[in-house]
Amino acid sequence: MDRVIYLLLLCLMATMPLINGEDPYFFFTWNVTYGTLSPLGTPQQVILINNEFPGPNINSTSNNNLVVNVFNNLDEPLLFTWHGVQQRKNCWQDGVLGTNCPIPPGTNYTYHFQVKDQIGSYFYYPFTGLHRAAGGFGGLRINSRLLIPVPYADPEDDYTVLIGDWYTKGHSALRKLLDSGRSLGRPQGVLINGKSAKGDGSDQPLFTMKPGKTYKYRICNVGIKESLNFVIQNHPMKLVEVEGSHVVQINYDSLDVHVGQCFGVLVTADKEPKDYYMAATSRFTNTILKGIGIIRYTNGNGRASPEIPKAPIGWAWSLNQFRSFRWNLTASAARPNPQGSYHYGQINITRTVKLINSVSRANNKLRYALNGVSHVDTDTPVKLAEYFGISDKVFKYDIISDNPPQNVETSILVQPNVIKFKFRTFIEIIFENHEKTIQVYNLAGYAFFGVAMEPGTWSPEKRKNYNVLDAISRHTIQVFPKCWAAIMLSFDNAGMWNLRSENAENRYLGQQLYISVVSPERSLNDEYNIPKNCITCGAAKGLPKPTPST
Ligand SMILES: *[C@@H]1O[C@H](CO)[C@@H](O)[C@H](O)[C@H]1NC(C)=O
Ligand SMILES: *[C@@H]1O[C@H](CO)[C@@H](O)[C@H](O)[C@H]1NC(C)=O
Ligand SMILES: *[C@@H]1O[C@H](CO)[C@@H](O)[C@H](O)[C@H]1NC(C)=O
Ligand SMILES: *[C@@H]1O[C@H](CO)[C@@H](O)[C@H](O)[C@H]1NC(C)=O
Ligand SMILES: *[C@@H]1O[C@H](CO)[C@@H](O)[C@H](O)[C@H]1NC(C)=O
Repeated sequence: MDRVIYLLLLCLMATMPLINGEDPYFFFTWNVTYGTLSPLGTPQQVILINNEFPGPNINSTSNNNLVVNVFNNLDEPLLFTWHGVQQRKNCWQDGVLGTNCPIPPGTNYTYHFQVKDQIGSYFYYPFTGLHRAAGGFGGLRINSRLLIPVPYADPEDDYTVLIGDWYTKGHSALRKLLDSGRSLGRPQGVLINGKSAKGDGSDQPLFTMKPGKTYKYRICNVGIKESLNFVIQNHPMKLVEVEGSHVVQINYDSLDVHVGQCFGVLVTADKEPKDYYMAATSRFTNTILKGIGIIRYTNGNGRASPEIPKAPIGWAWSLNQFRSFRWNLTASAARPNPQGSYHYGQINITRTVKLINSVSRANNKLRYALNGVSHVDTDTPVKLAEYFGISDKVFKYDIISDNPPQNVETSILVQPNVIKFKFRTFIEIIFENHEKTIQVYNLAGYAFFGVAMEPGTWSPEKRKNYNVLDAISRHTIQVFPKCWAAIMLSFDNAGMWNLRSENAENRYLGQQLYISVVSPERSLNDEYNIPKNCITCGAAKGLPKPTPST
């Protein structure tokens, strides 16, 4: 073979995915370490991935296989979760404490999963302890396959914007606060991609735009507490995607991004060529925190105006904005059929579960609960306990009621909270928030339809007002103070799935539960077998693996 061609081929093989007639593979090696950075001006410990803060973006296309070999060089056990990635039949890779034993310090573990049947803007983050408060997060995008039409023209470039509140205390100090039953208190600032511009003319741009071109920005709130209002000076944002759903495209001057949420917007560089600020401003707080960053026109000449539009006040505006997000029924998503071909509004509900969040300060120790139960993680992940047939030694199923009394908050039980849902049933979940603070929930393993959100308490008549036509399919939902929200979904993904508060304090102190969805045949068609490299711990350590049925 010609030497040049041979060399070219070698180069190609090194940069291209392996193709074995199956979906392509992409390999990543992550060295996770501590580092010292000063995102708010004072040096502090942060979590780096391959020396990057935030971590590297994962760029993938529907059906790609991602193989991520994580070297844990922290001094604590570590897990990564792939926020919004549905892990079809594969909760083994979800990287939460109910499905996986954490990776011990000084060792490595390889995640192997396929981003199947979904597209959109997501992120990953370290699930353990308060690690997300120190970094270790990064963008994760799933592009549409080439043959599937996307309902907007190819943007000039595709930018990831990770916004989030930031604490200067460091994750260990924050965890100690929670372990001692105290609150995290207020964050000290807001970062955009790990930085906060000073605004004194010395800042380097985070992004550049060529005049006249249109860019995609994927904005995710990777923080641990605060809802943020996101704005780009003088530039309306055309919303095109919310957590994997193509939406009816509307221009917004600003967007409320609650913790754990992601939005995909298009921005056209058609204004005076100079610098502009993007800003993320805390919502529903007395002291307003703001993070800013610069976008520069490539032909630009001139500093950004110091005047940044103010965020709206109160939550009613945010509720209206939520209601304005509509599914584009004719657009395709991961598959070449219209999103609206799935008529979720016509499926009969087989079970309704109402979840009421509450807080307890008994004995001066803060705990958060769902239906009176404050979840604690077990030494044996609940999925492993179930798989090895030793769940009776580890936890009890179904200790909460589907329809709790309204005064559920008076007493809190601290226990593992695991509920069972029958495989392939269509279930309605109502989140009722009696507190004065906003709640944000994320369900792993699924996308659901957020069909209603209203002030007050829920009752069955409220179903008359549900959006049964074009609610978007997504994986997070916020519940405003003294409000309720309803979601509907088909539990067709067998596995053990975490339903959690996105507020790290609430989650860490118990506002989460696990949903066990078991396929009655326990067939490998419904759920993959335990991976060979699965770490076992607790009561599952050293147990022989059951033989799967086929
Ligand atoms: C990870 O980074 C640390 C600190 O930079 C270094 O000492 C170590 O050798 C790296 N490990 C790997 C596997 O690259
Ligand atoms: C991301 O992947 C898509 C297709 O898989 C590719 O077209 C694009 O250039 C990639 N972008 C980056 C920034 O690597
Ligand atoms: C640890 O990394 C090595 C490559 O450096 C790899 O061969 C091995 O499979 C990894 N171990 C696990 C448990 O993922
Ligand atoms: C919905 O998607 C279609 C593509 O099927 C696109 O042509 C149309 O512009 C979109 N509608 C809106 C209102 O965004
Ligand atoms: C839903 O329930 C109604 C009333 O019980 C019944 O008539 C209808 O056939 C059911 N629809 C489906 C799709 O099962």
